[in-house]
Amino acid sequence: MRERGTRPYRIALLPGDGIGREVIPAAALVVEALGVPVEWVELDVGWATFQRTGHALPASTLEALQECDAALFGAVSSPSHRVPGYRSPIVTLRQHFDLYASVRPVRSLARGPAAGTKAVDLVIVRENTEGLYAGRERVEIPGEQAVAERVITRRASARVARVALSLARRRRRHLTVVHKANILRETDGLFRETVLAEAGGYPEVTVTEGLVDSVAYRLVREPEVFDVLVTPNLYGDILSDLAAALVGGLGVVPAGNIGDTFAVFEPVHGSAPDIAGRGIANPVAAIRAAAMLLDYLGEQEGARAVEAAVATVLQDGPWTPDLGGKATTVEVARAIVEQVREELSR
Ligand code: NAI
Ligand code: MG
Repeated sequence: MRERGTRPYRIALLPGDGIGREVIPAAALVVEALGVPVEWVELDVGWATFQRTGHALPASTLEALQECDAALFGAVSSPSHRVPGYRSPIVTLRQHFDLYASVRPVRSLARGPAAGTKAVDLVIVRENTEGLYAGRERVEIPGEQAVAERVITRRASARVARVALSLARRRRRHLTVVHKANILRETDGLFRETVLAEAGGYPEVTVTEGLVDSVAYRLVREPEVFDVLVTPNLYGDILSDLAAALVGGLGVVPAGNIGDTFAVFEPVHGSAPDIAGRGIANPVAAIRAAAMLLDYLGEQEGARAVEAAVATVLQDGPWTPDLGGKATTVEVARAIVEQVREELSR
């Protein structure tokens, strides 16, 4: 985090594309209700920006981010075919600021449509800079054969392990190492071995391990047994969407991309072109991302107030259509703002 002195927090808003432009303003509204001194810095990113400027993450955005304390990212639309010059800006951001741990808390409530059938309270900590996302992909025979290299280093595995272990220490003191070392002996073997070695420094944390396919199965069957999970990049990407489905869906789950000097918080979901522009996107994931951001800045009281307000609204409504309700993005955000005010006056 940058040296702040007495100035307000400088928080970058990167709404991006699609429903990012709807849920990020909703999250800003909730933060403003806390009365925490904030200066918003709205920045361009994403597909529309690419089409306008030729850059999905313009240099001006990167420069402005250097001056911010943290960022709140919405979502961007990425074409699934190759577009020359286009690279996913969230992936670039993670690499540029070395945001090596993606932290995704997944929690169900006692009642309401986000309750699910099982009591889930887990955090997925995903390695965020290498693995299959290292960008080492090439065509060997055009139209016939392509290869992606999977990079695992001791350094990256160790530092993400430490994030997961210190989180576990503050929670129920249980860590599951997710891998597929029986097949990927060298890469996942190194990940597994490194995490287990780091765990030696955290004797109070119980460490178990699981093969990624079996963990996927157990996440559906008995999610309540998990506390913190640490995973290589791709497994964590997939498992965290799966886990989101256990607690009300993509519209309610946030993520933090955390490095040693900067952090970017985001809803787990994408730009949702199927509902974009209709004002019905669920703002809860983005609002929870803002709560994680407040916690990162040291505003624990504000973070707790927002979390409590979100929990109340998720249990009692109003709900957006993805949770079976009829409310709009703005109506849900306003209900959460009202609850935040109540939390603060308690
Ligand atoms: P998506 O997360 O945008 O949508 C999947 C489904 O969930 C859709 O039916 C959508 O309507 C629904 N949904 C997602 N968020 C919601 C919310 N807040 N409220 C209510 N319903 C919600 O994933 P999809 O469709 O695979 O990708 C769409 C675009 O988003 C693609 O261009 C993709 O590349 C991009 N994307 C971007 C991400 C990011 O910026 N971090 C992450 C995932 C996808
Ligand atoms: Mg994903």
